[in-house]
Amino acid sequence: MSSNDQENSLNFNTDWSYSPAPESTDHVTIKDRYDLFIGGEFVAPASDKYFTSMNPATEEPLAELAEAGAEDVDRAVKAARKAYKQNWSGLAPASRGKYIYRIARILQERAREFAVVESMDGGKPIRESRDIDVPLAAAHFFYYAGWADKVDYAFPGRKTGPVGVAGQIIPWNFPLLMAAWKIAPALACGNTVVLKPAETTPLTAMLLAEVIAEAELPPGVVNIVTGAGKTGAAIVDHPDIDKIAFTGSTEVGRIIQKALAGTDTRYTLELGGKAANIIFEDAALDQAVEGIVNGIFFNQGHVCCAGSRLLVQESVADDVLGRLKDRMETLIVGDPLDKNTDIGAINSSMQLETINKYLEIGQQEGATMHQSSCALPDKGHWCRPTVFTGVAQSHRIVQEEIFGPVLAVQTFRTVDEAVAKANNTPYGLSGGVWTDKGAKIFKVSNQMRAGVVWANTFNKFDPGSPFGGYKESGVGREGGLHGLKPYLQLA
Ligand code: NAI
Ligand code: MG
Repeated sequence: MSSNDQENSLNFNTDWSYSPAPESTDHVTIKDRYDLFIGGEFVAPASDKYFTSMNPATEEPLAELAEAGAEDVDRAVKAARKAYKQNWSGLAPASRGKYIYRIARILQERAREFAVVESMDGGKPIRESRDIDVPLAAAHFFYYAGWADKVDYAFPGRKTGPVGVAGQIIPWNFPLLMAAWKIAPALACGNTVVLKPAETTPLTAMLLAEVIAEAELPPGVVNIVTGAGKTGAAIVDHPDIDKIAFTGSTEVGRIIQKALAGTDTRYTLELGGKAANIIFEDAALDQAVEGIVNGIFFNQGHVCCAGSRLLVQESVADDVLGRLKDRMETLIVGDPLDKNTDIGAINSSMQLETINKYLEIGQQEGATMHQSSCALPDKGHWCRPTVFTGVAQSHRIVQEEIFGPVLAVQTFRTVDEAVAKANNTPYGLSGGVWTDKGAKIFKVSNQMRAGVVWANTFNKFDPGSPFGGYKESGVGREGGLHGLKPYLQLA
């Protein structure tokens, strides 16, 4: 142990237990069963099959959701096509904007309810769903509502028009926010939508369907179908879909790319990541440690742009690791509805299995594993914040996306070495740079092959800022002015 480690370890005596501060669930009603939202109505699936969404923190069932088959997807696409032709694509752009503003406002009014349901269905801490997911989702609707009647100005000298019917498939890590990212720009540009939420987190999408009905959008402009991979594949394979927008695993991204090869269906794919957080010796180290914690531990590491690799300059490596381990001891893992919780439940038993498999692999590969010593609840799916040191660039825990609260730590001596290591991965979604020197920020961020690079902060989002990756992290951009383009025909 270095002297720095010892100094920092003195803090260990602090008692970090807080009294429970659970968010109330009284104001939330979750129905026993949700049907498909097609043509502005809730309709039963043709198959009459339903599946259950669980609360991953309690392992209790929350609701039954309709399992949409190809026939239901076809109904949804037909409803979307009809709305596209008869109404939405020809509507005055300012009117489209009004509807989207309405969605944003109702979301804000029902923000508390959405946050609680998001945390119950997916396991993320209420602090995150309340302060990040829901407000950002509303912000995306506000932002793209503003674009609706200004799209022509975004591309001067070009004529713009909608693409048609968009099929949108989203994952379980930011259920409502991903729905907003996808629906808002599509509607602003005059397209109609068939959206499929992930099978473990469909509830806020069904609440959003209620909001869309309440906002009195013309029937069929937004259709929401629930189900698992098969339902997603039925959307991708449907011949009358003009554009696919997908966020999820690189594996499914490849399947979609293959399915669409040779067709004229457009697509954007937002896939995995293995972001490096680079910490230089001249960085403000306490802030950097907060950035690391925010980047990989909050939201259980269920973030495609998570800072899952730490590259720390050798001269400050012991110091940073000491501070990080102390900070990890203060992190509270547990009840997602408790306002003090930092790390909630792992989204599903499958995802926990994947994470645990990587914990095994990391140790087999010869890395040293360190976990915080916090207690875990008896029921539910949990993972303590975990750090691996002594890792090599070739280790699987350095190269592959784990999607859990697991950080691989490497050191470097020079700027070039840091950049080379950061870029040495099949992914290129995001990264972080921590330094006191502005010139170093520009130099390093320009050399990093990543769609987003944060400087002296991490995981910060704004609807005006585009997001997307290089290499196996995907195709296309979402957010900002760039996010309009996939939903427009430009002439
Ligand atoms: P997934 O890629 O299977 O699921 C994402 C969405 O795609 C879900 O709505 C799912 O129902 C749908 N889907 C599945 N198979 C499909 C198919 N053949 N055609 C069309 N849609 C399909 O992701 P999964 O299995 O839940 O997670 C596996 C790994 O993927 C995670 O461990 C993580 O590494 C990565 N992942 C990345 C995300 C990101 O934000 N980039 C989000 C979720 C997972
Ligand atoms: Mg669930």
